[in-house]
Amino acid sequence: MGPRARLWPVSADAEALASVISTRERPLVEGLKRWVEIPSVSTDPDRSDDVQRSAEFLRAYALACGMTTAEVWLTAGHPTVFAERIEDPALPTVLVYGHHDVQPVDPIEEWELAPFQALERDGLLLGRGTADDKGHILMHLEAVRGILEVRGRLPVNLKLIAEGEEEDGSEHFAATVQAHRDRLACDVAVISDTGMLAEEVPCLTVALRGMAYWEVRVRTSETDLHSGVYGGIVLNPITVLSEMLAGLHDQDGRVTVPGFYDRVLELSTEERQELAQVPFDELSFLKAVGATPSGEAGYTLMERRSTRPTLDICGVWGGYQGTGAKTVIPARAAAKLSSRLVPNQEAAEITSLVGDHLRRAAPPGVEVEFELIHDGRWVLTPTSHPAVDAAANAIAQVWGKPPVYIREGGSIPPVATIADELSVPCVLFGVGLPGDHIHAPNERVVLRQLFRGMQVLGRLWDLYAELGRAGLSSRPV
Ligand code: BES
Ligand code: MN
Ligand code: MN
Repeated sequence: MGPRARLWPVSADAEALASVISTRERPLVEGLKRWVEIPSVSTDPDRSDDVQRSAEFLRAYALACGMTTAEVWLTAGHPTVFAERIEDPALPTVLVYGHHDVQPVDPIEEWELAPFQALERDGLLLGRGTADDKGHILMHLEAVRGILEVRGRLPVNLKLIAEGEEEDGSEHFAATVQAHRDRLACDVAVISDTGMLAEEVPCLTVALRGMAYWEVRVRTSETDLHSGVYGGIVLNPITVLSEMLAGLHDQDGRVTVPGFYDRVLELSTEERQELAQVPFDELSFLKAVGATPSGEAGYTLMERRSTRPTLDICGVWGGYQGTGAKTVIPARAAAKLSSRLVPNQEAAEITSLVGDHLRRAAPPGVEVEFELIHDGRWVLTPTSHPAVDAAANAIAQVWGKPPVYIREGGSIPPVATIADELSVPCVLFGVGLPGDHIHAPNERVVLRQLFRGMQVLGRLWDLYAELGRAGLSSRPV
């Protein structure tokens, strides 16, 4: 998949714009270092003050870059930051989405450097949140500052919404968007929280998988039992749970839950052929992380990771974990599970299918609890939409070649919320790379990606102005 041939104009001051935007590269790096020092880990209740501080940092940063309004919106969870600069209501309005919360840092001993002391090395900035997603947000704000320095105004109205609990399931995002629907009104949303396949393979993401995340708990007795006194005559919850989990996939790597694939939209032959054209080296993708291929037979790795649904065990525990031995048969065992969902699967339906299946798989007498932690819908961007085509063109101008359209295996549940609640096309423009180690030890961002990203934005807002509100609201052909 790729952009269509269409000639877009280049602004008369393009060179001046590019050179002033490039003067924002150093400030971007310095700003990002300071922001990374605020450990805004949304899943850790002990860090909620830090998430709040992160929001305040961003609010001040947005004002310093020329946004005229910047507010911290309190939610029932972590705060969201909203900023805007309205030039003229007749111009198109772009809503930029990012998130200012970050993932936990465990296992901390595997970090080469302190995760919250960003360090610049060999064109990289290392630290938690550099790529996911603080770097992307500052890429936007510093680009704004550059454009304003050259022209004194933006070619579009710009709004920014930066969520504080994306990494924790975006529980309050829909309510936040509903409560502020008028403030968030826009013609197009640009989501900057994805990546590309390689530095010299510019990409535009056109699909995200959805997800559902669960915890399953089994209980086989009222209390822990001496394994000598009771061993051999009672059910063991870890054995029971292990069998339930091991039965979730068959020999071909397919999920065994009845009905799991019923609503999956199979790709057409043409779509599969297009996906096969994407320059993606399956073996080096896995080799880079030292992992072993697995998954659903009959599909390429690229298809498996972006177009097929999954069911993964993300954590499992039970019994004695301390040093030495403890001869006990525990009363309970539990696991965390998640599914990546694809069009047209529905999280609620998959939740009941998986829950029912696990309950049926447990032997009589075992208490099974199955709880949904969070879920989110998949996203499919219409590639024929002019907003997508303009983004492809802006990328092509900066990278010197047109981007490849890719489907991302990861999920960003708030994107579906934005698309549904605000009825706008969502363009997924992010500059992360497979080697960024997001969510893992030694997260980093390739600074050149952020710098090129700023240049893309300098051009993209011009192209959106060129399309105008009418052009942006036109239905895809
Ligand atoms: N930025 C990621 C999504 C992503 C991952 C995009 C990989 C591109 C490549 C996002 O912050 C994320 O981690 N999403 C979570 C969602 C979950 C916490 C509900 C995910 O995909 O696990
Ligand atoms: Mn992210
Ligand atoms: Mn993330």
